[in-house]
Amino acid sequence: MFGNTYHMVRKIYKRVLTLGSFVLVLASCGKKDANSPGIEYMPDMYRSPSLEVYNGNQLSDDTVGIRTVGMRLPVPGTVPRGFMPYPYANDTAGYAAAGRELRNPIPLTPEILKEGEELYGKFCVHCHGAQGGGDGPVGLKLPGAPPAYYGTLKNLPAGKIFHTITYGKGLMGSHASQLTQQERWILVHYVQKLQHSKDAPAAGSDSTAVAKVDTKKRK
Ligand code: HEC
Repeated sequence: MFGNTYHMVRKIYKRVLTLGSFVLVLASCGKKDANSPGIEYMPDMYRSPSLEVYNGNQLSDDTVGIRTVGMRLPVPGTVPRGFMPYPYANDTAGYAAAGRELRNPIPLTPEILKEGEELYGKFCVHCHGAQGGGDGPVGLKLPGAPPAYYGTLKNLPAGKIFHTITYGKGLMGSHASQLTQQERWILVHYVQKLQHSKDAPAAGSDSTAVAKVDTKKRK
């Protein structure tokens, strides 16, 4: 009885072995794709499921059910650290509201004015001129020279100055990409200084004077 069972187990064992090797041989043949590794044993051992930044997620699912965990967008309203959003739109209403509501967060000191002068010399003077008369060499070549700070723009409030530097106005382009908000506020102080750089004649007559210079120079 005991011998009989032993023989039967041996027989079954042999058959399983034969069948197993047959399956293995079959699995190793008949590859259609030359690049296919064939049947893989525990593929996750060598196919790393780690996530790469800005790459799709190879995992079938993640906890949020999105398959692109590596390139998920920030939630709406996210702002970079240290960045203060500018809430006024680039339109007439935004311009008016900025003029009414904005106050310069940087206290006025001689050092700040010095910094403002430096920034003005790099970014503004070629159009607006050293005294802010709108008579910089580039300003004079424009189809319409910038109005003088100490003339038409004498009473322009700080918020509107900041708004214009941020978005640009007419022929003046936006300076938001070249100047930080802090630098723009420093410039506001300097422009305000130039608004009082001359005992200007009544508003209006000054811009005519600039226009005259303009035509003379261009002829
Ligand atoms: C390419 C020439 C150019 C440059 C550079 C330029 N501006 Fe202007 N700016 C103009 C012109 C032209 C206007 C008139 C715009 C209008 O009212 O149509 C103007 C208008 C302004 C005004 C009046 C805005 C208002 O509300 O009416 C301010 C303030 C001003 N510029 C400040 C600056 C400052 C500060 C810089 C330097 C960061 C600068 N601009 C650089 C050409 C320039």
